[in-house]
This record gives sequence, structure tokens and C-alpha cells, in this order.
Amino acid sequence: MPPKATSRSSISQELFSVLSFLSPRRRVQLVLVFLLSLVGAFAEMATLGAIIPFLAILTGGSEQCSALSVVCGLSPTQISFGFAAIIATATLLRLLLAWVSTRFAYAAGADLGYEVYNRALHQPYRFHVERNSSEIIAAIGRVNLLITSVLSPIMQGMVALIICIGIIAALITVDVTTALIAAVSIGLFYVVVTKTTRKLLEANSRIEAEAETQRVKILQEGLGGIRDILLDGTQGMYTKRFRTATFRQRTALATNLFIRSTPRYLIEGAGMLVMVVLAWWIQSTQGLEVALPTLGALALGAQRMLPQLQVAYLAWSSLSASKAIVSDVVAFLNLPMPTEIDPNAAERAISASPSQPVVVLDKVGFAYKSDGAAILRDIELVVPQGSRIGFIGKTGSGKSTLIDVIMGLLHPTSGEIRVGGQVLSDSNRRAWQSRIAHVPQSIYLTDASIAENIAFGSERHQIDMARVSAAAQRAQIDSYVQQLPEGYDTHVGERGVRLSGGQRQRIGLARAFYKNADVLVLDEATSALDDATETLVMNAIAAIDGDITVLIIAHRLTTLKNCDVIVRLEKGQIVRQGTYAEVIGN
Ligand SMILES: Nc1ncnc2c1ncn2[C@@H]1O[C@H](COP(=O)(O)OP(=O)(O)OP(=O)(O)O)[C@@H](O)[C@H]1O
Ligand SMILES: [Mg+2]
Repeated sequence: MPPKATSRSSISQELFSVLSFLSPRRRVQLVLVFLLSLVGAFAEMATLGAIIPFLAILTGGSEQCSALSVVCGLSPTQISFGFAAIIATATLLRLLLAWVSTRFAYAAGADLGYEVYNRALHQPYRFHVERNSSEIIAAIGRVNLLITSVLSPIMQGMVALIICIGIIAALITVDVTTALIAAVSIGLFYVVVTKTTRKLLEANSRIEAEAETQRVKILQEGLGGIRDILLDGTQGMYTKRFRTATFRQRTALATNLFIRSTPRYLIEGAGMLVMVVLAWWIQSTQGLEVALPTLGALALGAQRMLPQLQVAYLAWSSLSASKAIVSDVVAFLNLPMPTEIDPNAAERAISASPSQPVVVLDKVGFAYKSDGAAILRDIELVVPQGSRIGFIGKTGSGKSTLIDVIMGLLHPTSGEIRVGGQVLSDSNRRAWQSRIAHVPQSIYLTDASIAENIAFGSERHQIDMARVSAAAQRAQIDSYVQQLPEGYDTHVGERGVRLSGGQRQRIGLARAFYKNADVLVLDEATSALDDATETLVMNAIAAIDGDITVLIIAHRLTTLKNCDVIVRLEKGQIVRQGTYAEVIGN
């Protein structure tokens, strides 16, 4: 599920909140598009207004002429040219409007996609631990639908409605009764159609959105687990799931498409029927010659209005058919952003007292779920500056969780953490984290060059190659990289598939060394290395600046030989704490 959907708010409210995420510049553009639509609507009215004197003069009628004496003084040629000029202007205006409103919709969509990604990336680690990444990927994919299925049609629908109102106003000046009969009967038809189809459109939109998340999930799982699938031959299971989800989604889409396109055929038929009846009525009461200009205006009005009405209806139905998309996107947009703080100020405050321990844990407890079992209990730990602390304990005893809590990725559910004497909080967490370099248990490599993976998070042109190679030397990967034909420019493949497990780990280590942080955290960072290589890496760590604090988790006890303190965890509690000899013995 996406983050908490805004509780049962109407689609217009939700759409309004989408608009509130637009930049001031976009909002100004929105107003400009709206104003341009008004001009467009006036141009439409002018076209219609001009046809009456045009037809009147061409048919030699004089009745309308008395009211429009300015035009009547002109020759038929002049009038024809004038009329053509008005039509050309109106057409050009409509082209401009279509271009401007579509551009606006896509630009706004780009802004919103950025905003969703930005907010997702700023959510605490816990947010990501609790959900499947396919939800976020599907939601960002859906932002595109928000443009094509919601923003763009709404812009066009708005313009179309304004033009319709303009046309009706113009028709009213020609013949009140006829215009009103036409407007009311067509309006009623749309009211009936929208009332009956709304629920179905919305329900299908929910199905479509859910199926999309499922599809992304199945795709990711199938491709991510390709080794197992190939070995087990379970392709069929994945393709079947994919087909079910796709079929469900496409059925919902097809139904909605049908609902949306049907009124068009009905309305075109019904519209023409109304016109014929009105034409017959006018000519039988007023006579053909008098009625011709009015009939011309009506026919032109209908010819211009029906497509516009269809655009307006499509906008409405797109909106109903996209309710689920709007809700999902709004839910992501409403995610809180961390409060902006000045990281440098906090950093100065934190590092101001070197005599303080780097970090202190005071009766820290942690549970992944508020009603779930405690993973960490009553953790008391003091990490002095420059110390080397080793963590041991059975698998599942809570070592990685403890590290995540110390690093401020997970927030303690009880007790407190103090860094440099200050309680770790939202205002100094970023500053604390910026001092840490971390090699996780499973290293994430991007599909980029080795240099980019070591200088992770730096722009290509900002990479300091001397620092990259120094970091790689410490991590014992430099000589391997040197003998590759493309050296540090070698691409490692998706998640580093083109490297061995130990090579990946050493790139992870080099990444941590490159960061020049003053707290180094290694979680099973050398587990895949052979003994000799591991010894070299650990010697390099022992040789680093004595001011740097190192926290190491390891199953292999020899890894921890150089640690000042060893902490043994058992079921989320510290059961022993002391020197290597005290805790492990000789
Ligand atoms: N995201 C999570 N949600 C719920 N429980 C979790 C989550 N991550 C870990 N756990 C649980 O927390 C406990 C501690 O896990 P943790 O990863 O900290 O163990 P560990 O000591 O690092 O183990 P290992 O040596 O195997 O890496 C485990 O029982 C695990 O099932
Ligand atoms: Mg672990």
C-alpha cells in the first residue's frame, strides 16, 4: 500500500492538493493558460457572431443588417475576407492554446515526479524497511499517468468548457430559445451519463493501480531472482502471475476506455437529431430565407461545440478513471520532509568537545514494530574517540540492528543516544551521519565504473582519482583494478554482477575509506575475503589515523584481534564487554 491515503477526500480536493505542490512559476503559468483560454473562447464567439451578417448579406437578407449597419456598408468580398480573417485567428489561437496547455501539463508532471522521488528518498530508513520498493517505483511511474490522464485532459477540458460556454453565449444572442433548448438537452444527457458511470470508472481505476504495483513487483522479483529461477525452472510461475496481473489491469483499462468513448457516438447522433428538429421548427415558423443565418450559426455552433463537449467529458472521465492514481500520488506528495537544518552548525557543535566519547548509548531499546518483539534491550555502551570496538554474537542476535540504531538510521524505541554530549535528534542526525562511513553486510554497487562506485555519490567530474586509488590500495583492490584493461573505468554491471563477492566487498571498503569519515563502521565487511587478504585489509585499518573510531561486526574472531573492546550480543542484549582476551580468551 502507498503511504496513508488522505482519508476519503474528494477527487477535487486531492487535485487541489496536487496543485499546491506546484512551484509559484507553474502556478503563474496555470493562470496564463486559463486567461489564454478565455481569449480563445472569445475568438470562438466572434466566429459565430460574424457568421450571421456574413450569411445575411450573402443571401441578401436585410433584417439583421439594420442592426449591424457597420458591416452592411461593406462589399461581400470585404465581408468574406473579414470572416476568413476571424476564422484564421480563432484557429491559430486554438493551436497556441493546445500547445501551451499540453506543455504546461507535462512540465507540471515533471515537477511532481521529482517531488515524489525527492520525498521518498528523504523518508527515514524505517519507511523503506516497511514497504516494497515496487510501490515507490510504481507510484513514480504513475506520476506520468497523472500528466497524461489527469493534468493534460483537465487543462484541455477546462478550455473546452470555456469555449462551450462562449459558443452557447454567442448562440443565445442569435436565438435564445433554440440555444437554450440545445444546451439544456445536451447538458442533461451528460449529467445522466456521468452519474451512471462514475462509480465503475473509479473502481476500475483502483484495480488498475493495484495491478500496476503487482506487475512491477513480479517483474522485479523475477529478474532479481533469475539465478534461482533458472536453476529451479520456475519461469512458468512468474509468467503466470504476470499474466494474471496484466490481464486484470488491461480488463479494467478496456472497460474504462469503452465507458469513456461511448457517449461520443451517442452524443453526435443525438446532437445532430436536436439540430434537425430545431432547424425544421425554425424554418416552419419563420420561413427559410429569414431562418438561414440562424440555421447557419446553429450548425456552425453545433459543429464547434460537440467536439469541445467530448473533450470536456473525456477530461471528466479521465479524472474519475484516475482517482486511484491521484490518491496514490497525493499520499506520496504528502509525506513529510525532514526539517531543514544547517548541518555545519550542528557538526561544529557535535565535534566541539573531543574529550567527549564519540557516541554513548543509554539504556537503548529497539523494536521494528511498535507491537513487535524487542530486538535490542537495555544497551549501555560508551564509544570513546579513536577506539576500535568489535561486536560478536550469534546470527540474528541484533548486531546489524544495533549498528543501524547507532548510525541514526533506526530510532531507538526507548533510552537515548548521545553524540558528542548531545542527544541524537532530528536536528543533529544529519551532522552525525555525515561523519560515518559504513560498509554494510550486503554492499550495493551501481551499474557504473569502479571509480564511480568507490567515490559513491560524487558527480563524475568531481571524483578525486588520487584519493580513489589510495582508498583502493588500503582495501587491497588496487592491484586487481590496475590489471583490468579499462582500469578504474571498468563497469561492474548491475549490482556488481561482473565481480566476485570478495571484489565487491573490497570496493565497498574502498568506498568507506574514500569518504575520509571519522567513524568507520564495518558490518561483516571482510567475510568474503580469504585469510591472507583479510589480514592485509585489517592491517590497513589498524594503521589508519588513531583519531578515527572503528566499529566492526565479525563472525570470524581473528578479524577482531586489534580491537580495544569486544562486545558480545545475545538476543538483543549485551552479555559481555571487555578486552579481546577477556571476552574471547587466547
Ligand atoms: N526489517 C526488519 N523487520 C523486522 N524484523 C527484523 C528486520 N530486520 C531484522 N529483523 C530481525 O531482527 C533480528 C536481528 O537482526 P540483525 O540483522 O540485527 O541480526 P545480526 O546479529 O546482524 O545477524 P547476522 O549475524 O545474521 O547478520 C532478527 O531476528 C531479524 O529477524
Ligand atoms: Mg547482520
